[in-house]
Amino acid sequence: MYLDDPVHALAAVTHAAPYDYYRRLAAGPPLSFDARLNCWLATGVAGVQAVLEHADCRVRPTGMAVPENLVGTSCGAIFAELVRMNEGARHTVPKQVLARVLGQVDLVRLHQSTLQIAHDHIPGNAVDLHNAMFELPLFAMAGLLGFAPAQWPQLAAWTRDFVACLSPLSNSDQLAGAQLAAASLLQRFQLLLREPVPDSLLANLIGLLSQTCEATAGLVGNAVLALRAHGVLCAQLSADPALWPAMLREVSRHDPSIHNTRRYTACPVEIGGLALPAGQMILVVLASACHDAAAYAEPGRFMLQRPLVPVPGYGHGRHACPGQQLAQTMAAACMQAWCETLAAMPLRWSYQPSLNARIPVFMPGDVS
Ligand code: HEM
Repeated sequence: MYLDDPVHALAAVTHAAPYDYYRRLAAGPPLSFDARLNCWLATGVAGVQAVLEHADCRVRPTGMAVPENLVGTSCGAIFAELVRMNEGARHTVPKQVLARVLGQVDLVRLHQSTLQIAHDHIPGNAVDLHNAMFELPLFAMAGLLGFAPAQWPQLAAWTRDFVACLSPLSNSDQLAGAQLAAASLLQRFQLLLREPVPDSLLANLIGLLSQTCEATAGLVGNAVLALRAHGVLCAQLSADPALWPAMLREVSRHDPSIHNTRRYTACPVEIGGLALPAGQMILVVLASACHDAAAYAEPGRFMLQRPLVPVPGYGHGRHACPGQQLAQTMAAACMQAWCETLAAMPLRWSYQPSLNARIPVFMPGDVS
């Protein structure tokens, strides 16, 4: 352990400079027990893939489909149906529907419409930027789902309130706000669809907004930081806008917005020669796989031209993110519209408290 290292993998998510630590994790054993966190860590491409591919490593602990504090609530009703939180048949069929629907989205049109919305909402200062990086992808997604522009700000506000129920760090006020937001979102989607639809569909439509929210805000925020850290990028991208997708892809690898996910052993399992009993939690450190030298040459360097290999920050295997192309497209459009303004904007930042997501909180002022 080095002096400046985060104290553990969960603290790395919001640490100022965690990537040396992640690279060392990636170079170590793929699976190890962390006594401080009292759970297993799956690290590097090999560890992450082995766990995410394992049939008995599940997204929820056995017998606890919904976190205890959400049981019997509107948030719990949505949570229980999300493909992200289900396995087996309850996962496979809705997952196929989602993948088909999202796969049919015309990405060129989504890019154009997001670019237009982002041009109409150029952030004037750091606080505007912070709100815009959450709101703009949600506006674009709400538009895609068929909501009228007048409804977008309210939907974005409810979604931002709703996602608080997904974080163990939320306080009781935030949880109460999440319940109100969940009920409002359910009602608004019912109105949009006009006819009764299964709860699972309704929940997963709301899931499209909630899954867009923080992860894409983090992607945009981390892209802003990359732009400022690498002075030549703005001119390079303005001269050749076709490079924007590569820029967002490299941000997703170099400074990803989602650092961790979790799996729970449903029965005794063997992974990489290690025997794990049932009921174990495995912290799957996606960010360490993003910096694995076995998969990426000079992983610490920000490089626009990298071979096209999958980005671990979007997961892997049966629960891999079906929204990756949408997120990259929406974030690229926002950055393209805001690039010139961002280059000159006085900014300081810290990171939003989180155990999984790396999302800068922008504030006025300059880094001294
Ligand atoms: C930068 C933005 C995003 C990142 C970094 C991200 C990351 C991830 C990751 C890591 C997973 C896998 C979780 C696990 O295996 O435990 C996931 C799943 C998922 N994501 Fe994303 N995501 C992003 C944006 C989106 C967007 C825009 C959508 C919707 C349009 C979306 C929809 C989903 C869904 C539905 C799942 C669950 C898939 C399943 O369990 O079968 N994501 N995402």
